Amino acid sequence: MTIETVLKMGDPRLLRQAKRVQAFDTPELHGLVENMIETMRALNGAGLAAPQIGVDLQLVVFEVLENPRYPDVEPIPLTVLINPVLIPLGEETEEAWEGCLSIPGMRGLVPRYARLRYSGYDVFGKSMEREVEGFHARVVQHECDHLNGILYPMRINDLRNFGFNSALFPGKELIEE
Ligand code: NI
Repeated sequence: MTIETVLKMGDPRLLRQAKRVQAFDTPELHGLVENMIETMRALNGAGLAAPQIGVDLQLVVFEVLENPRYPDVEPIPLTVLINPVLIPLGEETEEAWEGCLSIPGMRGLVPRYARLRYSGYDVFGKSMEREVEGFHARVVQHECDHLNGILYPMRINDLRNFGFNSALFPGKELIEE
């Protein structure tokens, strides 16, 4: 397994519309997923999208473990989501602070749908569907935005709510998506 280099905002590869995965359960796809999970965990991220390591495919991974350092963050099971479709459940949105492994050390206040249904496939090509809310819904929206070339600053309503972690939240350890 390999810890991949995460592309940073400004790299044009983060702005592409990712292509659908066509072949499931192949050695290449398994290897890619393993490297993404290892990279996400090594960087202490909540999620990682394939475009962030320069791979132009509709594939995201996310996972949030229970961690006493982040008591206000709800855990999310390890999920591999391929060719995802997101459907908001209702109009309600909520704002919360987000970070991103492609924009290290920064934070922005981003509106997201409060509830949604998402579906897609795992690495074996098995279909999956979930209804989620809150932080889980936020992480899925953040990661799937990466597949459409959207980075969270593009969604900030008021750019005064965008800045450096060290200035916004001094002394606090924060996770990034
Ligand atoms: Ni991100």
